[in-house]
Amino acid sequence: MEIIHLSAECYPIAKVGGLGDVVGALPKYQNKLGHVAKVVMPAYNSKFLYENEFETVYDGWVKVGAVSYQARILRESTNKLGFDIYLVHIAGLFDRDGVYGFADDTERFLAFQIAALDWMAQWEHQPDVVHVHDHHAGLIPFMMSNCFQFSKLNQVPTVLTIHNAQYQGQFGWDKLHYLPPFDLINTSKLDWSSAINPLAAAIKCAWRVTTVSPSYLDEISHAANGLESLLAQERGKSIGVLNGIDIEVWNPQKDSMIVKTYNARTLESGKKANKDELCRVFNLDPDQPLYTFIGRLVGEKGADLLPDIFYNALAQSGGGINILVLGSGDPQVEDRLNEITQHYPGKYNAYIGYNEALSHQIYAGADFLLMPSRVEPCGLNQMYALRYGTIPIVRRIGGLKDTVIDIGDGGFGICHDQSSVWDVGHAIGRAYELYLDQKKVKEIRKYMMSIDHSWDSSAQQYIDIYQM
Ligand code: ADP
Ligand code: GLC
Repeated sequence: MEIIHLSAECYPIAKVGGLGDVVGALPKYQNKLGHVAKVVMPAYNSKFLYENEFETVYDGWVKVGAVSYQARILRESTNKLGFDIYLVHIAGLFDRDGVYGFADDTERFLAFQIAALDWMAQWEHQPDVVHVHDHHAGLIPFMMSNCFQFSKLNQVPTVLTIHNAQYQGQFGWDKLHYLPPFDLINTSKLDWSSAINPLAAAIKCAWRVTTVSPSYLDEISHAANGLESLLAQERGKSIGVLNGIDIEVWNPQKDSMIVKTYNARTLESGKKANKDELCRVFNLDPDQPLYTFIGRLVGEKGADLLPDIFYNALAQSGGGINILVLGSGDPQVEDRLNEITQHYPGKYNAYIGYNEALSHQIYAGADFLLMPSRVEPCGLNQMYALRYGTIPIVRRIGGLKDTVIDIGDGGFGICHDQSSVWDVGHAIGRAYELYLDQKKVKEIRKYMMSIDHSWDSSAQQYIDIYQM
């Protein structure tokens, strides 16, 4: 099958979070199954853009309302990523640093989607499926089935994957003329809560909808930032497919970003060397358990709870634990997390910012990884932790519920029910007890590293969905 993925992120070209990891891996595994999966994404300023050679496959003008933008689509086809990548270059909109968060994001992502469709509508053949990810590509199913300009594509099946329903990309009806002409009788397909809502439009118009874990699919029929009733209504065409991880990128045996590589046989000495290095760099105590957090410092991840959780744990343990944080996001949370360093030097440290290599070093060197998420559609961190023999401490929600089994139930992680300072504090205490039983810790680590979370089975599950 020929599968076209459209996304705002794709690792290693542009990654803000897990969306980038998924779109950088799933197509590769689909190609391994014998299909032809390709990725189309915006051409942000990136190392990848400057360090590779491209062929121009489309050169045209894209109209967004009254403004026309020059668009080019650039193809990199050496297969170094495991799939062909197409970068949509739009002068004035994407030739800047950064992925999201600009005042003109509506115009940027609309121009991206229109250019991609204009190009596909010029092909002599048609792809077997168009697979869109999140709201940045969410108007594509609507435009394919309704805009006159793309009528050639109106029978091509579309699949929407919801990575996170919190973000929907809404904009006002005053911008309706941004969309290429369509029969106005279909306007209601764009509407949700009196705004144009790209994620809602995709849920309504895509042939199939998937979520990134089965539990998240159950949860969003009850809570999805306003979209719950729509999701409940469209449940019949929706399926939860658990994300995988790219076991070539996340492989402690071959990882060039960690100081010592290891496998299940050498994991004790390997983890020790990686922990020693982390403790040396961040002035921590290698003889005490190391608890860590990696992620976006936002409410969804429970990041606002972290400062109180850490103050309590550090005070109650009497110096018997270490904590290391890697993340960025809410400036208030960043400040509070930085402040703790002054009160607990030698026991606590924080790296505020984004650092891919450091994230690998932490998965390798940590004893425990905390994920007190309020919402977690899938979560990849816990799966990386498992692969690196680091015990996850997670809230039972979304994909965390689907991937981590508590030690009390014969599993390998520590689970708690609520995203609260008390619940996480209690879980940290349980982890401490576990740490004292090093024989058990070793057994658990070995077992975790043997769990197969590769994309092999989920990549096939998507193929089955395309063919339904
Ligand atoms: P989300 O996509 O909601 O942020 P996921 O668990 O799916 O959560 O994926 C997060 C990805 O981003 C992981 O690859 C994680 O290692 C990475 N990540 C998050 N914050 C940082 C950071 N500050 N530095 C490096 N990597 C980070
Ligand atoms: C989103 C979700 C996260 C998920 C990721 C990849 O960013 O917040 O839970 O793992 O997408 O699907």
